[in-house]
Amino acid sequence: MPRRAICPGSFDPVTCGHLDIVERASRIYDEVVVAVMINPAKQGLFALHERIDMLTEATARYGNVSIDSFTGLLVDFCQQRGIGVVVKGLRAVSDFDYELQMAQMNQSLAGVETLFMPTNPLYSFLSSSLVKQVALYGGDVSALVPESVQRHLAGRVPTGTAGAG
Ligand code: PNS
Repeated sequence: MPRRAICPGSFDPVTCGHLDIVERASRIYDEVVVAVMINPAKQGLFALHERIDMLTEATARYGNVSIDSFTGLLVDFCQQRGIGVVVKGLRAVSDFDYELQMAQMNQSLAGVETLFMPTNPLYSFLSSSLVKQVALYGGDVSALVPESVQRHLAGRVPTGTAGAG
């Protein structure tokens, strides 16, 4: 039985911080599924298919990483796919409280374990929402997101804003 892990999230959009965790997880587990949560109640900047496209391109070089999406409980998706471990990055202590609650809930619901990885300090300040904010006001996020995301973001930046300020 292959050892499978999941990296779940909104990925609106994927950042270099996420990719660092996915890459490290791919060295530990036989298979890693990056799963985009479908949340009909929350409209993001990017549609589901765009998030999946950006992730697919950004993880293409990893032979054991696949991209998927899910709705409902994460543990149900894990059970359907034979996934026993959730891998999450922790940027700072502020991430810990909520992540701990979710990890304990997932363990108690279905015995799904969570492995916390310390985020690479290069990306400890990084979040999808800050990336969107900076990019939409014309800031440079090229060191913070993969090329696939840079291209998608460029299509959303209002003309005349890029490079300003
Ligand atoms: O990138 P995000 O938005 O921080 O990801 C949060 C995510 C998708 C990992 C979390 O909200 C989740 O697992 N949602 C699925 C619904 C679920 O299982 N909720 C109970 C978790 S305790």
